[in-house]
Amino acid sequence: MLAVNDVFAVYDGAITALEQVSLSIGPGSLVALLGPNGAGKTTLLKAIVGMLPFERGEVTAGDILFEGASVRGCHPAVVSRRGIALVQDGRQCFRELSIAENLRAASLVSRQGAADRFEMVLHYFPFLKEMLDRPAGVLSGGQLQMLVIGMAIMSKPKLLMLDEPSLGLSPVMVQSVFDVVERLHREAGLTVIVAEQTVPRLLKLATDVYVVSRGRIVMHAPPSEMTEERLQRIYLN
Ligand SMILES: Nc1ncnc2c1ncn2[C@@H]1O[C@H](COP(=O)(O)OP(=O)(O)OP(=O)(O)O)[C@@H](O)[C@H]1O
Ligand SMILES: [Mg+2]
Repeated sequence: MLAVNDVFAVYDGAITALEQVSLSIGPGSLVALLGPNGAGKTTLLKAIVGMLPFERGEVTAGDILFEGASVRGCHPAVVSRRGIALVQDGRQCFRELSIAENLRAASLVSRQGAADRFEMVLHYFPFLKEMLDRPAGVLSGGQLQMLVIGMAIMSKPKLLMLDEPSLGLSPVMVQSVFDVVERLHREAGLTVIVAEQTVPRLLKLATDVYVVSRGRIVMHAPPSEMTEERLQRIYLN
């Protein structure tokens, strides 16, 4: 479904953030993309959806194929229409607009079937039903994380990518977020990539683990071979 082939990326024409990164993700996978601070996880996700040019970044070599066709150099709106959604870290939404308005705005990428997807979002996040007319800004961090995942679903993705969804959340809320991610993968059939530094729960769900360090993929293994001690050793190096 997604093939990243020998990708190099730089910021400001000089700072190398990705070096010869390759990964291959089949439909129905749930991939954990792990790595310490500054490893290149966010850069890789932004490279896939075409967002690097907005940060004076650029893919300088290699190719990124989605369903067999290159998305390298495509505008994020095009990549989104092709079926890749990125839930960025930072939980961006329109905080003054209502929750319903945020979900509708997110469906502009793909209006066909938007009413069904709205129902699907409320099915996975039932607490939103009671709050549809309230401003998104009233939501807690965990609720906001759920809303931005809901907004990604409104764009009708085949591949859903989440950048550090657990950031700053309580353990109970992290559990709830990952429960929903697991259901979206299992029930709704989404292929999923989750970037995190380390979340034991993610290692239990993942079908594949890639570890990034200093801009390179340093390990690709099934989750059964990825212990927390092994990760710590990679991170400390
Ligand atoms: N907009 C930018 N301009 C210049 N350099 C950047 C920019 N964004 C990231 N970098 C650099 O690229 C490298 C990779 O950063 P990236 O944000 O991709 O790492 P990360 O794995 O997502 O880290 P974290 O876990 O802290 O989110 C780092 O050295 C970082 O300083
Ligand atoms: Mg990051």
